[in-house]
Amino acid sequence: SKSDSSSADGSSGENDKPVIGFVQTGSEGDWRKAHTVSVREAAEAAGYELRFADGQAKQENQIKALSSFVAQGVDGIILAPLVETGWDNVLEKAKKRNIPVLILDRQVDVKDDSLFVTYIGADTYNEGRLAAEWLIEKTGGKAKVVELQGTPGASPTINRYNGFRDVIGEESGIEIIASQSGDFRRSKGKEVMEAFLKKHGDEIDVVYAHNDDMAIGAIQAIEDAGKKPGDDIILVSIDGVRAAFEAMVEGKLNCTVECNPLQGPMAFEAMDKILSGDIGDMPKKQMIKDEVYERENAKEVIDSRKY
Ligand code: AHR
Repeated sequence: SKSDSSSADGSSGENDKPVIGFVQTGSEGDWRKAHTVSVREAAEAAGYELRFADGQAKQENQIKALSSFVAQGVDGIILAPLVETGWDNVLEKAKKRNIPVLILDRQVDVKDDSLFVTYIGADTYNEGRLAAEWLIEKTGGKAKVVELQGTPGASPTINRYNGFRDVIGEESGIEIIASQSGDFRRSKGKEVMEAFLKKHGDEIDVVYAHNDDMAIGAIQAIEDAGKKPGDDIILVSIDGVRAAFEAMVEGKLNCTVECNPLQGPMAFEAMDKILSGDIGDMPKKQMIKDEVYERENAKEVIDSRKY
């Protein structure tokens, strides 16, 4: 059973529930809010005590929180890593104390893959490819694009950057004329888009944003510049949050590639197995499937969206 899985000092929480330490990236936008809620709700539903640590967008904070969960002797750890690298040492601490770590949402790049049990999240490389495929179809393979990247060093940033380029590389008519980080944030997306508009003005045909929040910031900047988002400039982004569907219904966003944040249930289903030692056939990567949504069908879909 869950409770006799012995970690460190075998500490368990109130009512003998197994204790999971969850290290979150921060609260950069709407997607992240939905992700945190999903993990909290799934923990409760599955009968766990969740200890929550907010990394506040700093890897340093996340590493401290992880070390502290190890010191507390929690039964398991869920880590949503801000960036891909720099985790080896702290994950080794967890391994030494026999505390299993599940990587959620973003990936880690570590020398020794046995430092975590499994990764659960979206296929963010494929999301970048899907965005590019949609764009080629939409523009006939001819457009000047500005790109709003996510947080530097984060796996979805790296993957959405590469996935997009791997597809447009074959299409010489699509040209990326500017690319900069907006840190997955609405305010930063707006700021960077203002700079792009100043520098490139009428040249810009398309905005490719690594998440919806930055696209929504960019929409604001485009409107402030007296242009019509969705028509004068095409926008394609990733996540599929409610605000993106609203923007599509208003005609201001053309496409969003879903990145499902409702990862809590899958995480705790896996955690149940991990804590009962049933990981024989558990894959090292468990990817959630994403869909592509366009403004043309946003109205029909919006009410069915759960985040
Ligand atoms: O890691 C997933 C990404 O993180 C989401 O696409 C983005 O909105 C969030 O900040």
